[in-house]
Amino acid sequence: MRVLVTGAAGFIGSHIAETMRAAGHDVRGLDSLSPAVHNGRPGHVTGELAVGDVRDPAAVDEALDGVDAVCHQAAMVGLGVDLSDLPVYADVNVTGTAVLLEAMGRRGIPRLVIASSMVVYGEGAYDCTTHGRVRPAPRHPGDLAAGRFEPRCPQCAQPLGTATVTEDAPLDPRNAYAASKVAQEHLAASWARMTGGAAVGLRYHNVYGPRMPRDTPYSGVAAIFRSCLENGVPPRVFEDGGQRRDFVHVRDVAQANLLALEAVDRADGGAAPRADARGAVAGGLRCYNVASGEPHTVGEMAAALAAAFGTGLEPVVTGEYRLGDVRHVVASPAAAAADLGYRARIRFAEGMAEFARAALREPALAVPVRMLSMADGVGSRDRSLAAICHRAGDGSSGSMAPSRASTASSRPGHGPGAPSQATPIISNTCFLGGRPSDY
Ligand code: UD1
Repeated sequence: MRVLVTGAAGFIGSHIAETMRAAGHDVRGLDSLSPAVHNGRPGHVTGELAVGDVRDPAAVDEALDGVDAVCHQAAMVGLGVDLSDLPVYADVNVTGTAVLLEAMGRRGIPRLVIASSMVVYGEGAYDCTTHGRVRPAPRHPGDLAAGRFEPRCPQCAQPLGTATVTEDAPLDPRNAYAASKVAQEHLAASWARMTGGAAVGLRYHNVYGPRMPRDTPYSGVAAIFRSCLENGVPPRVFEDGGQRRDFVHVRDVAQANLLALEAVDRADGGAAPRADARGAVAGGLRCYNVASGEPHTVGEMAAALAAAFGTGLEPVVTGEYRLGDVRHVVASPAAAAADLGYRARIRFAEGMAEFARAALREPALAVPVRMLSMADGVGSRDRSLAAICHRAGDGSSGSMAPSRASTASSRPGHGPGAPSQATPIISNTCFLGGRPSDY
């Protein structure tokens, strides 16, 4: 197939382009090569690459010429840290997707794979022994400040057990980025209904691996920890380190995209993806978790990465917290396995060992992110992690074994970062242009 991969110069998009080419597809990339993100065309990007912005109808239309399917990865990523993020997330992610879908519809291109995220769920799934499956509200700042990190049952305030999230969980976006991902899914569903096209949305969990962008206030935690280790600074594990995520390797994510492409191709031919398919059928969107199925706490991830990095530097569990962070999000990849044939191949220990020494993407500019302008398509980020990163308790932070942190996860409110009184904000340390700078 002739496939357009948007965001093809990026972390995930570049791996997808490689995987699809290796499988025999003819791939054209589209990437804005935003100066805020790239210093020109990255060396690892091979093959055809059109330079253009997904919000630009002319650039998109030209890039779609002769294309059979689209894999849409171009997006503004990260969590969105304050109000001023709203317009840029809506513009790049929502408007960009709408422009792309309109052009695909006009050109009669019927196959779409679209990147979504586990952030559409908000908190993960929780069970109360009395009330069954419940949906806790966002954690109260007062609880976080007092080191009570585990969500409680909204009805009886008892501690909750965690469960794996399946794709039918309610959508509950809790920040600008998450809202834009939900909007992208809805737009893709509308496009499929209006055109009879087939679409698969892939809800990525915490993706890591080679070419992950180095630490910025918008980076995922794995890249932040890797940057810390390289700079000889202990990774700072927030809360009590017991928050759970599913760290999925970028090559597994690329493989999921290839399988989704094959599924929408089958659907477009009138056949469901598999005999028992719940997947994309013509005129519909089907979303899947893309996870490793091997969840770990953030404390365990920090410990594994530090051990693999091998300089003896140990993570510190700080008790800091970020408003808007969710506590646990652990997914079931069972539907993707059943319908797409997806199975993560890279185990946590192997992936972290590779990631500890893998090449990361350097920041484009050796200046703080706040210097970047709207014209770069990234938006003004005149803010700091200090504005969103708070510390619970008295401000002490000791070097603690992450194994202790993971134990703490089963004892709500009693982790190592669970002191009794709140003190304000401290900064986090970021590394931009290879030099540590305090935010
Ligand atoms: C991340 C991404 C999100 C993506 C999702 C699924 C970011 C900022 N977030 O969400 O865009 O959709 O994965 O792929 O890229 N933490 C520390 N120390 C730090 C930084 C963070 O302990 O220095 C903790 C956080 O408090 C949080 C956890 O690590 O509990 C994960 O943080 P992070 O990777 O930033 O965000 P996610 O919510 O998992």
